[in-house]
Amino acid sequence: MIGFNENDVKLLRCPTCREKLEWKGTEHRDGRLFYGALICMHNHTWRVESGIPNLADRQRLSTKDQLMDMVYKFLAPIHDLSVTYLLPVLQYPDAQASRYNYIQAMELDGWDESDGPKKILEVGVGTGANIPLIAHAAQNTNDLEIWAVDLNANMVEICARSNADMCKDDSSLRLALADAHELPFADSTFDRVLHVGGINIYRNAAQGLAEMARVAKPGTPIVVVDEGLDKTRDNTFLHELAFLWLTSMDEFTGAPEDLVPTDCYVVSVKNVMRFYYCMVYEKK
Ligand SMILES: C[S@@+](CC[C@H](N)C(=O)[O-])C[C@H]1O[C@@H](n2cnc3c(N)ncnc32)[C@H](O)[C@@H]1O
Ligand SMILES: [Zn+2]
Repeated sequence: MIGFNENDVKLLRCPTCREKLEWKGTEHRDGRLFYGALICMHNHTWRVESGIPNLADRQRLSTKDQLMDMVYKFLAPIHDLSVTYLLPVLQYPDAQASRYNYIQAMELDGWDESDGPKKILEVGVGTGANIPLIAHAAQNTNDLEIWAVDLNANMVEICARSNADMCKDDSSLRLALADAHELPFADSTFDRVLHVGGINIYRNAAQGLAEMARVAKPGTPIVVVDEGLDKTRDNTFLHELAFLWLTSMDEFTGAPEDLVPTDCYVVSVKNVMRFYYCMVYEKK
């Protein structure tokens, strides 16, 4: 079962006005908030169904956002298959091994039981393929909460299903529908933030980076991965062609170092796959 509890609501903020939210609805028997609504002091109302709050203000989406949302709606059932089988054909290493490269950049293995509770956020979680890897890398952490948001309801539904074992009674996974441009969380909430695979098509990537920095605690690695061709490798004409196809909807390719907010600095930029950069930045 997926879900969040009364305590979790304290971290949530109205995406429209950033005010605190109050729960109005029915609780599930073990204290999970299941069906109802989250309402702010300005009466902005966000529905919660089956333990998943819908905190995306869809009126603010651009036409391209809506188009991409439609694309992801149909892509959702085949997303994992295409990542697992198509990407390796294009760039050789297997997708799982490549995911380990950027999970390592999150520096999760340094935590142990003596550390206090830790909260990790994945923005644009998709079908949730990173979730088990994050949980495994942070397995020594005593009290771990993984929060994950995505704009697309089908993706979130598959994520919930495929990570169902993390959503049992001692649930450590909280899922929500949200727009990466308006994250529904209080400032300085998370100990790590990850984003993979969407920022190059965002309507405003600078705003997406600023939002991740806002909700991250200062000094926490914020890891961003998306399409960027590794120019240090021998790229054949076929690689160049495949990259062009892969990035045909992108606003830009390569790490958005120039768009990082002024109160942050870029820690590192490297390619974790032939076609994907990994940029780490932190709030000062
Ligand atoms: C290529 S998938 C990557 C999924 C996952 N992070 C992974 O590594 O497998 C990109 C995801 O970003 C989501 N997305 C796109 N624009 C978004 C936005 N503005 N806010 C939140 N999620 C968004 C899409 O719905 C999709 O699930
Ligand atoms: Zn509000």
